Amino acid sequence: MQRIVINGGKPLSGRVPVSGSKNATLPLMAATLLGRSPSVIRNVPDLRDVQTMADVLRSLGATVDFSEHTMRIDPAGFSNTEAPYDMVRKMRASIYVMGPMLARLREAKVSLPGGCAIGSRPVDLHLKGFQELGADIALEHGYILAKTNGLRGAEFNLSGAAGSSVGATCNVVMAACLASGTTVIRGAACEPDVVELMDFLTKMGARIEGSGTSTITVQGVESLEGIVHSVVSDRIEAGTFMTAAAITRGDLIIENCPSMHMEATISKMQEIGVVFEDVGDGLRVRGNAGDFRRTDIQTATYPGFPTDMQAQLMAFLATVPGTSIIKETIYVDRFLHAAELVRLGASIRVLSGIATIEGVERLSGAPVMASDLRASAALVVAGLAAEGTTIVNRVYHIDRGYESIEKKLRDVGATIARVSDNEPDDATTPPF
Ligand code: UD1
Repeated sequence: MQRIVINGGKPLSGRVPVSGSKNATLPLMAATLLGRSPSVIRNVPDLRDVQTMADVLRSLGATVDFSEHTMRIDPAGFSNTEAPYDMVRKMRASIYVMGPMLARLREAKVSLPGGCAIGSRPVDLHLKGFQELGADIALEHGYILAKTNGLRGAEFNLSGAAGSSVGATCNVVMAACLASGTTVIRGAACEPDVVELMDFLTKMGARIEGSGTSTITVQGVESLEGIVHSVVSDRIEAGTFMTAAAITRGDLIIENCPSMHMEATISKMQEIGVVFEDVGDGLRVRGNAGDFRRTDIQTATYPGFPTDMQAQLMAFLATVPGTSIIKETIYVDRFLHAAELVRLGASIRVLSGIATIEGVERLSGAPVMASDLRASAALVVAGLAAEGTTIVNRVYHIDRGYESIEKKLRDVGATIARVSDNEPDDATTPPF
């Protein structure tokens, strides 16, 4: 098992760069399968999830080369209609290949992703969209079997009980690009990652209107071509560094910060008392400029407060005087990090999708267990502020979404290292 060991309690200061966006990259990689020629994607973060998606594309017959943050994908050999369990169980976003498979191969057998640590995550909206476009769907032996004798445009609503779905919107739009006729998707997601995919598809030759709004219209075309594209910076990684600056009462300049996509996070942190300053080539974040005040947060679809920043904000609020409330509306069970933050001295109670956080004067280092990607980021952020030593176990979660996290934090003054031992990563017994 690999662990991250942090000796916390020091303010961070200096410049920290943000990598390309993981959640934007994954659908773009799938979208390259729609092209008749190779695509090149630049500024691709070197992450476990990206490597997993590359393996999924290879398993379908595509050729993928990845070095120095540039990925070249040649879809010429794309002909395999099965995405097996062993691939999909590693990463739910593997389901993004389903839209391109249906559009180009008219058939897809994709393992059902199953649940994950942040709760039940159905794919019913993806399937509903494909059915609306004329695919027959069956579920058998843990697999989704989808077939069509040609997708046709349709008009439908794709929002579910928790609102719009990023994944379903991306997947269904990819399928609609090569369907015959016009597709109108209402209740579409507006997240920047969706907009990035629409831009990518449009460059490939797709005809899409309404990107960034809740109604997307796609006029089907005969074929798409490969393109060259550079991925936007990762707003969640940038937000994680913001909370690291704030919780350590530090002063960071975040380079390549996609501030234009981060209004909800920035304005919430300003409300708490964090000071932001645009310094031209980055965003300066000061956690040492005055007193902090408690706040209330409710996660929501974009442009609301992102669920992917909830855990990191909870870590920060654990050190802010007064009683703060966080309501999680996207994944109501996404609170496994709360109990681990309590091990670091935080005072947090969770009841029915609502966390109540009483700010404490100081956190104290302890061994903790990461349950998912953003939870592990929150534990690292908390460890940076905690006095003494924090050991974050099951750190492989963080490698799914943060490139060179220890190096980036070490370069701005953190005492942080990765250690390995012979314990298996999936050990169920905590090593402490
Ligand atoms: C994406 C992000 C993830 C982020 C999430 C919400 C990627 C790779 N992942 O995940 O980091 O936390 O958006 O911003 O981009 N839902 C259904 N049925 C479906 C699909 C979703 O009910 O078929 C529900 C989900 O359970 C959830 C809500 O819709 O409650 C939003 O999920 P969705 O936007 O689809 O998340 P993902 O695309 O999986």
